[in-house]
Amino acid sequence: VDFGIGEPREETPAFIREALAARSRRSRATPVATACPELRAAIAAWAGRRFGVTLDPDREVVPTLGSKEAIFHLAQVVGGDLVAMGTPAYPVYERGAAFAGKEVLELPLRAEAGFLPDLDAVDAATWERVGVLWLNYPNNPTAATAPPELYEQAAALAREHEFLVASDEAYSELYFGSRPPGSALQVGDRTNVVVFNTLSKRSSMPGYRTGFVAGDPEVIGALRRYPPNVGVAPLEMVQRAAVGRRGATRSTSRKVRARYRAKRDLLLPVLERAGLRSAGGDATFFLWLDAGAGAEALATALDRRRRDRHARLVLRPAGEGFIRLALVPSVADCERAAACSRRCSSRWRAGRR
Ligand SMILES: Cc1ncc(COP(=O)(O)O)c(C=O)c1O
Repeated sequence: VDFGIGEPREETPAFIREALAARSRRSRATPVATACPELRAAIAAWAGRRFGVTLDPDREVVPTLGSKEAIFHLAQVVGGDLVAMGTPAYPVYERGAAFAGKEVLELPLRAEAGFLPDLDAVDAATWERVGVLWLNYPNNPTAATAPPELYEQAAALAREHEFLVASDEAYSELYFGSRPPGSALQVGDRTNVVVFNTLSKRSSMPGYRTGFVAGDPEVIGALRRYPPNVGVAPLEMVQRAAVGRRGATRSTSRKVRARYRAKRDLLLPVLERAGLRSAGGDATFFLWLDAGAGAEALATALDRRRRDRHARLVLRPAGEGFIRLALVPSVADCERAAACSRRCSSRWRAGRR
């Protein structure tokens, strides 16, 4: 049972598949240069309901082909020679920086600091070199969430030193606590602040490639001008399917959360009995487990059994001692894994001693 790559494997809800099928009979399959206004309006309306913010759909929202591509390309449209990011991190921030010829400034995410970066630890001269600061909450891989103060502090620094805050909120709808996570869109002044989101996780639509960037209109304008250089806008029928229906959209995220919660409840107790303490936060579909000195050996042993070995996730030094499990296999497979883990844990504990 492979808990490696964090790509949802749940079935896309029927109403979305049906919307796509219906649209495919009516839509032109020719590429479109711009996003359909209905989708931009639906995104702005959702952000209004979810975060209590007002977005101008014409100036402050741009639909994207999922978020990975947009994240990768961002370093190409900003200045500066440094890309700052919390580590361990989703690897695409670093890859984007490398392909844009920029260096990475690592801000370690430590358990004792709630897996939040220490922005005070960076001096003014270094901030002057930064083109973009990546924040990612709820966080991959630590499952931590961020308080509004982090976004306000980052936005203030971004205005002072003229860099961009890019908040990757791919997991904004996957949380297990009673309070939904906030967004960088809620800062008092959105100058130099943009948010990336995607339907891949919250609506189990990774293959549809549909997401958006929202925030500072100047940056959104640049991001709208950039894609025609490297490709085209998302397929029109996918954009229209992504508009969704208001009630259905809300109940989709509720169902998706319930499913990940069920998997979490199945696996956490057996993992903890096996000596892997849950060290991370209360969101995303990741379990961030403290495996202590045995982490490297365990990761290597697990990796050896994976079919897709070349896709092994390398978590940077700040992730040492931890194992990340993505709760993406089906509930039935999680049950199978839990049963297997019950059998194996005593053996692993014995080996650890
Ligand atoms: C933190 C984070 N951001 C963005 C993405 C990209 O998602 P997509 O390109 O499917 O929208 C992922 C996918 O694993 C992720 O973990």
